[in-house]
Amino acid sequence: MTTQTSARPQLIDLHPPSADMHRLVQDGLQRNPRQLPAWFLYDNEGSRLFDQICQQPEYSLTRTEIALLKSSAADMARAIGSGVIVEFGAGSARKVGPLLEAMRPSAYVALDISADHLVQSTAALQAQHPRVPMLGICCDHSQLDALPDHPLIRGTRRVGFFPGSSLGNFTRDEAIALLRRFRRLLDGGPLLLGLDQPKSKSRLEAAYNDAAGISAAFAHNLLQRLNSDLSADFNPDQFRYEAVWQETESRVRMALISERHQTVSVAAESWTFSAGEPLVTEYSVKYTTEMARELAKDAGWCWCRRWHDPADDLSLHWLEAAD
Ligand code: AVJ
Repeated sequence: MTTQTSARPQLIDLHPPSADMHRLVQDGLQRNPRQLPAWFLYDNEGSRLFDQICQQPEYSLTRTEIALLKSSAADMARAIGSGVIVEFGAGSARKVGPLLEAMRPSAYVALDISADHLVQSTAALQAQHPRVPMLGICCDHSQLDALPDHPLIRGTRRVGFFPGSSLGNFTRDEAIALLRRFRRLLDGGPLLLGLDQPKSKSRLEAAYNDAAGISAAFAHNLLQRLNSDLSADFNPDQFRYEAVWQETESRVRMALISERHQTVSVAAESWTFSAGEPLVTEYSVKYTTEMARELAKDAGWCWCRRWHDPADDLSLHWLEAAD
């Protein structure tokens, strides 16, 4: 490339304060079963472990989705059009490349819960796409009411990008609320939504409990994070990781199972776990096309079409705001 702008990604930091995190932990530990928000998994170490999960042989989701984006980005760009690309939960931002090439957006805006991850990933992406202005926004997008007012966003059509089947972390009600929120945040613009599909129990359970033990380490890291960020005293050795395909709910449930009766303190409050009691670290809901269309409709979106990989393991769904 000859014309390099001296572009440097900008960052806006709206990370929830630790007081909010403490309240969310209290809420989560009171639930039955106990469950913490999935974004708690993504501190620096958790984000690093998640990237490693994506490279495990059993976890094909990321590789398959990247291949699908590479092969179909031009077609997607023709169908969906362009504007400013807004990616929700960008993580390492390793997926948007083909869309940046094919859509030639006016800018790329990456939202993520980990500020450090965001700085690194937008810097790396900027080096590959020097002409696309980039902005990182560190935030919990499930609580964001509006995109910050910024010259890169103002007055431009917004194209939402939510790959990776991250919506699978949410229960149906939460997923609907989130898609409604994205509709507001995108201000009438379309959404490209990546969702993983149901597969065999053995394949799914292997994907979420890899032989190298990275999935287990990823879940256990949540306890370390609570210990360091919220002065908790979880003993990770006393919790066993488990990933189970729950067919009726069409989801994988990932949990840390208390190995014995034990009491744990989180910022001076005590929580008792009975032997065998689960602490749900996350769900991963798998969507058939029917489920995806239904969900989109219930959340105020029109389902337009989907692109899928040759084996039809996962889909990228194109949604337009319903009026
Ligand atoms: C980032 C939520 C899409 O559910 O496949 C992978 C998270 N956790 N292995 C998924 C995850 C453990 C992942 N999502």
